[in-house]
Amino acid sequence: MPIMDWSESLRVGIDVIDEQHAKLVKLVNQLYDAMVAGKGKLVLGTVLTELIEYTVYHFNTEEELFKRHGYPDAVNHIREHNDLARTAKELKIAYESNKATVTFDTMKFLKDWLVNHIMKSDKAYAPFLKSKGEK
Ligand SMILES: [Fe+2]
Ligand SMILES: [Fe+2]
Repeated sequence: MPIMDWSESLRVGIDVIDEQHAKLVKLVNQLYDAMVAGKGKLVLGTVLTELIEYTVYHFNTEEELFKRHGYPDAVNHIREHNDLARTAKELKIAYESNKATVTFDTMKFLKDWLVNHIMKSDKAYAPFLKSKGEK
């Protein structure tokens, strides 16, 4: 059973962003499934790496749009991205050095962060970017 579902309520209304968010949800579910199935360190580490890399790629997509259109709240938004990216990289380092593993709490943290960030911060930029012609 997935830990989270992609739903219409998560849609911000800009296609490239919605597609990337849907893929992030998919990767969170893949990591969750691997954890629940008790997959070994190699599999879990591979999925964790993929999730982190895709997250960074997605943040870059948003930040390039901010730059292109001069989004006024970019600084605060980018700070949120950087905080999560740092936490995720710390998790990966701890995981790789056997100091931590992927737990249900880890998954809940990732899921809650993603939902809250999309619902509040990403939805906040959507009207601005749409007014600049993004769709
Ligand atoms: Fe996003
Ligand atoms: Fe964002």
